[in-house]
This record gives sequence, structure tokens and C-alpha cells, in this order.
Amino acid sequence: MKIAGSAQRSAWTGKWGFIFATAASAIGLGNLWRFPYLAAKYGGGAFLLVYIILVVTFGYALMMAESALGRKTGLSTIGAFSSFGKKYAIIGILASVVPFIITPYYCLIGAWVTKYMVSYLTEPASVIADPTYFSSFILQNNETFLWLLLFILLVVLVIALGVQKGIERVSKVLVIALFVLAIVITGYSLTLPGAMDGLAYFLIPDFSKFSLNLVVAAMGQMFFSLSLAMGIMVTYGSYFKKSEDLEQSVRYIEVFDTLIAFLAGTMIIPAAFAVSGSADAVSAKAGPSLMFGALPQVFQNLGAAGNVIGFIFFALVFAAALTSAISLFEACVSIIADAFHVTRRRAIVAVTIIIGALGVLVDAGYNGLLNVDLMYSLFGIGNYGDDQLLDFFDFISNTILMPIVSLLTCLFVGYVIKPKTIIDEVEQSSEFKGKKLFVVMTKYIAPVFVVTILVSYVLNTMGIISL
Ligand code: PHE
Repeated sequence: MKIAGSAQRSAWTGKWGFIFATAASAIGLGNLWRFPYLAAKYGGGAFLLVYIILVVTFGYALMMAESALGRKTGLSTIGAFSSFGKKYAIIGILASVVPFIITPYYCLIGAWVTKYMVSYLTEPASVIADPTYFSSFILQNNETFLWLLLFILLVVLVIALGVQKGIERVSKVLVIALFVLAIVITGYSLTLPGAMDGLAYFLIPDFSKFSLNLVVAAMGQMFFSLSLAMGIMVTYGSYFKKSEDLEQSVRYIEVFDTLIAFLAGTMIIPAAFAVSGSADAVSAKAGPSLMFGALPQVFQNLGAAGNVIGFIFFALVFAAALTSAISLFEACVSIIADAFHVTRRRAIVAVTIIIGALGVLVDAGYNGLLNVDLMYSLFGIGNYGDDQLLDFFDFISNTILMPIVSLLTCLFVGYVIKPKTIIDEVEQSSEFKGKKLFVVMTKYIAPVFVVTILVSYVLNTMGIISL
């Protein structure tokens, strides 16, 4: 698929073309790396429950709105919004900032995954399982920079060669392979002592764990994982044929994406319990390094097979990360190409430099080459705990920008172009079954929800209220 620079707008090869291409973008580190650590951190079952409710209500409405907007206008984000009036371009512009913030740190995690994949070929599983393996790796400056550049290079290579079509085909196999492997690893990790407690923690909601931060985190994760509130779904929708069932496709994407996240949780959280024993220990430790710490311990127990399983697992995560990184990177390229009217080739060069530089910056935060606390204070917020620049980038995009973009999108659909515009677009192909939910969500529930959450979050963080 080409997002930018294609002479004429190509269409997906039918409904499944759209579903798989979108699934390839949606399923990635968000599901495999980010979802499990957030679920572990924010009380397991309670987080899972809130997350699923958000996906089928808010996420569903937003995905319908974005993709239908794209299909209706045949344009990517900024153009789609401004085609209803110049001043609405601002929504598209804000949305366009998001991929530039996410891609650098996304590539860094992709680099860690690449390193682990290769390590399972070159080192015994027991060495990789050592608790210091990860920390000593990310603190080794030079090596991490090389892996980061390697990952970015791979992304650029695929994009420059224009072989995304092949990638789409690969991603079908990938989704199925991920399912199978996740089930196998889950089956094994559940046999470990203590793992059942982890499963219970992940599946049974404990309502005392319910908190404002949990809801904020679940909302950000929903945007991130479904690739929403950053314009990408608008662009993808613009390639969707008028004759295909948009609503059903959106349902499939949500189910695939949520299933993979769910499986990643059942794989990683019980493993983390088996390693560290109690819910408190797990939630205290759960952070961006959860996947890199918990699973290697499981693989180590498998003896010689540990290297094989470890390699296959990280190879799949690598492939999922690569396909998503490609779509993030493509989004950046098309934004630059459209905004500055430059050729696609120039846009690729510019984006490589921007993403590479920001990625190196984020990496430098981990390597201790940068005073992360100073960066935080420059933005007027304190760094509580051991947050890194990566957490900061993640926070700005998922907790601040994406809720704002989603709010504006809902208000735009609910009050400017009116839900009917979207409903008519969807009904060009088939009946819009969830239209009542869609209208209520975009006009009332989602805007009120986002404003309430954002305002109380800010007040809470500033210490004005305490929730
Ligand atoms: N949704 C992807 C994930 O879960 C991340 C992503 C966001 C990819 C936006 C492309 C665009 O990993």
C-alpha cells in the first residue's frame, strides 16, 4: 500500500484487504508489549474490563468516524478535515503530530526486540534470562544505538523498496502464527508455580484497584492499540471501497486486536507472577521492561528448546513491530510530503532524519547520556519515580494529544458535520447496525468522558484534588 505520492488512489482488494492491512498496523507492540505491562501495573482484571468496555464503545465509534471520514472524502487526515472548512484542518494537524512522537520510541522498543531475537540465536537462554541482562543491555550506550539505527533502516528499506504489498500478505500469516504461538506459550507458562495466581489477577476484576489513573491508561492504550486519534484510520479508510461493509470490517479489526492483546496478557502476566511471586511485586515492577524480563525466565525453563521458542517468539514480535512501525513511518512520510509539497523520496529522507534524531534522544535518556529530570522540568512537570524520556513521549501522545484529538473528532462529527454524514457514508454499502450507539457516543458520552477524565487528571496531578 502506498499512502503518499500515489498518482491515483488505489483501493484495497476488498474487505479482507482492508481488514488485514489495518490489522497489520493495529497489531504490534501496543498489544504485545504495552498492553501486558499496563494491565499488570493497573490491577489486572479491572484494567482488562475497562479496556474492553472502551474498545467496544468509544473505540468503535471513533474508528467508524475516522474510517468513514476517509472513505467519504477520499483524502488523508488534514485534507479530510479541511474539506469541510479550512479551520477544521487544525484537527488533522494535531492528529499529524502524534505519529512523530510515537515513532521514535516505537522504533527503540523495536530495536530491543531485534536484539532479543538475535540473542536467542547467539546466547544460551539462561544468559538472557538473567535479571540484569536487560538493564545492562539498555545501559550499554553504543550497542543500543546500533540496534536502533538497524531497526529504522529496516523500516526505511521496506518503505523505499515499496514492497508493502508483500508485507500485507506476510501479515496474514503473522496474525495466525501469533495466535498459535501465544496459545502454546500461555499453556506452558500456566504450568509454572504461581502462574495461576497471575491468571486470576489478570482475569478477575478487583474493583478496589479501580482508579482514575487506570481509566486514563486504558483510554490511552485503546487509542494506541487501535491506531486511532492520529489520522491513520482516516487515511486507511480513504482506500476502502464504497461497496464494502465498513462496520463489519471495523468489528473484525477490533476483535483481532483485542484478542492478541488478551493473549499477550495471559502469556506475560502469569509468567511475571511465577517469577516475582505476588501481585504487589508484579504491579510495582511492571513497566516497559516487563516483556523483556518475564518471558525469558519462562523460556529458560524449557532447557534446550528455550532458545528455539525464545527466538520464534521474538521473531514474531519483531515482525508485528515492523509492520506497525512501517505504517507509523508511512504516516509521517505522507504528512511531510503533503504539508511541504515535496517528493516522496525527499519526505522519506526528512522523516528518517527526524525519527532517527528523536529516537537517539530517547535512547540517550536510557543510556544516562541525558538528564531526563531536566527535560521533564523544562516542560513544567516533575519526574516522579524512574520515568524515562520514553515514558514522557508516551505520556504526551497517549495521555494528552490523543484524547484531545479524539475529543475534537467527536465534536466535529457530532456537531459540525453531524453524525448523519457518517451514517449516510456507512450506509452506502450496508446498514449501520450500531448507529444509535455511534450517535450517543460521538455527541454526548465520549466528549463528556474525555473532558471529565482529562480535567480530573490534570487537577489530580497538580494536587488540587486527590483521586
Ligand atoms: N497500533 C499499533 C500497536 O498497537 C501502533 C500503531 C499506532 C501503529 C499507529 C501504527 C499506527 O502497536
